[in-house]
Amino acid sequence: MPHAMTRRRLLLGAAASLGGRDPTGPGPSLAQAARRAGRDYGAAVRMDYLRRDADYRRAVLFECATLTPEVELKWAAIEAERGVLTFSEMDELADLARTHRKRIDGHTLLWHASIPAWAVSDMAERRDWGPVSRYIQTVMPRYADLTARWDVVNEPIAEDHGVDGLRASPFLAAFGPDYIRRALETARAAAPHAKLAINDFGFERDTPIDEVRRRRLLRLLGDLIKAGAPLDIVGLESHLDLGVKRLPAERLAAFLREIAVRGLAIHVTELDVKEADYPLPATRRDERVAQAVKSYLDVVLAQPATRSVTTWGLTDRYSWLEVTPADLARFPNDWKDGSSPGLN
Ligand code: XIL
Repeated sequence: MPHAMTRRRLLLGAAASLGGRDPTGPGPSLAQAARRAGRDYGAAVRMDYLRRDADYRRAVLFECATLTPEVELKWAAIEAERGVLTFSEMDELADLARTHRKRIDGHTLLWHASIPAWAVSDMAERRDWGPVSRYIQTVMPRYADLTARWDVVNEPIAEDHGVDGLRASPFLAAFGPDYIRRALETARAAAPHAKLAINDFGFERDTPIDEVRRRRLLRLLGDLIKAGAPLDIVGLESHLDLGVKRLPAERLAAFLREIAVRGLAIHVTELDVKEADYPLPATRRDERVAQAVKSYLDVVLAQPATRSVTTWGLTDRYSWLEVTPADLARFPNDWKDGSSPGLN
């Protein structure tokens, strides 16, 4: 697969800023390279792919110190039916991690996009914290030996101006803005030794709404700290988008300083790249992706509060980023012969 090899080498080249690996030859794993720079490296993985694809499994186990379950820990995956807990996928991933001495990143407890349907209506009708806290209290201790950190609240900041800048989620509707502090308290009680995170996306973008979102996040952090909430980490998803203007380096660095001065650690939790210029030759496309990752990580890793980098997947063999009809519609003169731009 020459195409995949090129991409892999470019990714490794970009990741060399994690700690110095020769991208042209054999060298340390990404995890080892990161460790030399005092950081952790990991990737989001899926048990169904690990089970059936030996190459993928070998690459994951070689490159990663931490594994982030892409879907297996989400509430909708664990408790699709009220009170019926399905741990089989996550338990298998946990066993794999134990066997190979990997850590698991606990992703994620409260996320608006992964609430079981029964819980959505239950929260709306009864405003009862019970099901939320039972889920937290069940999953956190079960994997306590593997998980040093958890994404407790995922994507709480609104993508528009929202209700006071917070996402209009079932959690906000049922419990008010205090649900974030409450979730952190519940998580701390369930896993006293784990570091607890708020995780969100888009802070690297230079758009008016993302400027509002950055300010809203900082205000939320200040409020939580003032309220004594057990918060340790801000997770920056870092889904880079080549079609969206990126914040200049100094402004990104200043934003990271604002997080660091509040005493919080920074983790890059979901790094990947959505392409824009699909008609370019594959090598140019790969260069653009690598360049975007390198210029981003150069800034983020210059901040001492940054502790880890997790890529959202390890290979473009399996990616949640698809080339969509809308992407193709932007290039009406290409692929008329029925060919395609390939993978994102
Ligand atoms: C995505 C997974 O990659 C998909 O496989 C799944 O269908 C939906 O969730 N932000 C997050 C992640 O915090 O949990 C999301 O993962 C991607 C966006």
